[in-house]
Amino acid sequence: MKVLVVGSGGREHALAWKIARSPLAPEVVCAPGNVGTAQVARNVAVKATDIDGLLALAQKEKFDLVVIGPEDPLVLGLADKLRAANIRVFGPGAAGARLEGSKVYAKEVLDRHRIPTAAWRKFDRSGVAKSYLESCTQWPQVVKAEGLASGKGVFIVHDAKEACAAVDAVMEKRTLGAAGLRIVVEECLVGEEASCLSITDGETILILEPVMDHKQVGEGDTGPNTGGMGVFSPVPSLTKRIQKQVEQRVVVPSVHALRREEIPFRGVLYAGLMMTEAGPRVLEFNTRFGDPETQAFVRRLKSDLLPVLIAAADGKLGETEAVEWDERVCVGVVAAAEGYPGVVRTGDPIDGLEAAEQVPEVVVFHAATQRTPKGDIVTAGGRVLCITAMGKDIDEARQRAYEAYDRVQWQGKFCRRDIGKRETARRERTPEPLPPPQESGPDDAPRRPTRPGGVGPRRTQP
Ligand code: AMP
Ligand code: GLY
Repeated sequence: MKVLVVGSGGREHALAWKIARSPLAPEVVCAPGNVGTAQVARNVAVKATDIDGLLALAQKEKFDLVVIGPEDPLVLGLADKLRAANIRVFGPGAAGARLEGSKVYAKEVLDRHRIPTAAWRKFDRSGVAKSYLESCTQWPQVVKAEGLASGKGVFIVHDAKEACAAVDAVMEKRTLGAAGLRIVVEECLVGEEASCLSITDGETILILEPVMDHKQVGEGDTGPNTGGMGVFSPVPSLTKRIQKQVEQRVVVPSVHALRREEIPFRGVLYAGLMMTEAGPRVLEFNTRFGDPETQAFVRRLKSDLLPVLIAAADGKLGETEAVEWDERVCVGVVAAAEGYPGVVRTGDPIDGLEAAEQVPEVVVFHAATQRTPKGDIVTAGGRVLCITAMGKDIDEARQRAYEAYDRVQWQGKFCRRDIGKRETARRERTPEPLPPPQESGPDDAPRRPTRPGGVGPRRTQP
């Protein structure tokens, strides 16, 4: 069996790492990959946005499965082209990926199908947007670029001046390029954020274990948004009851919405949520695995991922077994390069990678690394590594992840030191989680050894 993983980030290293461990013993190829993927796969120098190059590669190498990691090739229609050439692919076509590629479209779908989200308006002229913002009496407001912006297209603005500056930057100075041709202005929601990722074939959903990302660059959730600075999983504050609510109010209605919109969808539906007092509200959809969420998933997933990806790609997810999760905690700390999420310095030699992986239960996933002709490993982007550690509890996982982080060195390296701190603080406030009402057992009841944690695939009925 031959599998191609498209992309070059930490998510793709994690996917290639997990797929390479499959008992089906696949040959894994990564395009273009990074220094980390080269340890578990064969890298081929075709860029993730070179759609024709990837199609030619897939036809030449006759892959049994192509797994598309990032959003850009999905939005550019790579999955459609591969399917048209009879190549099995995990990832939605361009119509499904539009849910991520266009904020306006996603909001229209949410409204059409009454899936809870923030109230919003769209603007394609900066003057009209600024007049609207100047008339606002409720602050803060949220200004969002319409298109793909690697997590950097959202501005929480606290007054008209700040709001107009964001509009000027995005729409007039085009700081985000074509992504800022249109904007959405939406109500600012208050609550705790959560992500809910499901694998779906459009009929059946397999909801993955909750993972908590840390989006802002600074400790205590300060500073600009990033693609994600770290993760932990599981997330005890997302009780079984809350997860059920998310499934019923968001995930199942979203998969039904895709069906009613006649959008075939075989891949990951990732709902970014705000858990408000009135229940979960969708902040955004992604149509791919999260990064760095995937790094935590693959560490905790005990089952073989490959048959699940194949089943989803074949529209047969309903025929797969429930997956098994490791009960332990995973913490993933992103090691970033100076300047991230702005202009970053690259090309700095990285030391200590082997020493880091000698910390028990640590796996270092590479996100932006390159090997020089001399053989040195150097930084090649903003998020350079994601250092993951498993532990019996959040404290042990955190301690191991940061110990490994401290063993890696390059000039300008930084991380957030508070990944998972939210969970330790919550645990200190409420040492014993209260049992939720209307449930047979407390949330921390021992989980059955064979099918712990995760939800088995379930067929959705429109
Ligand atoms: P998005 O790319 O839409 O997920 O937005 C990135 C981040 O901006 C989210 O993870 C939130 O932290 C924040 N955000 C987006 N929309 C809203 C909103 N309506 N209210 C509050 N925060 C938001
Ligand atoms: N970590 C957020 C994302 O993958 O979009």
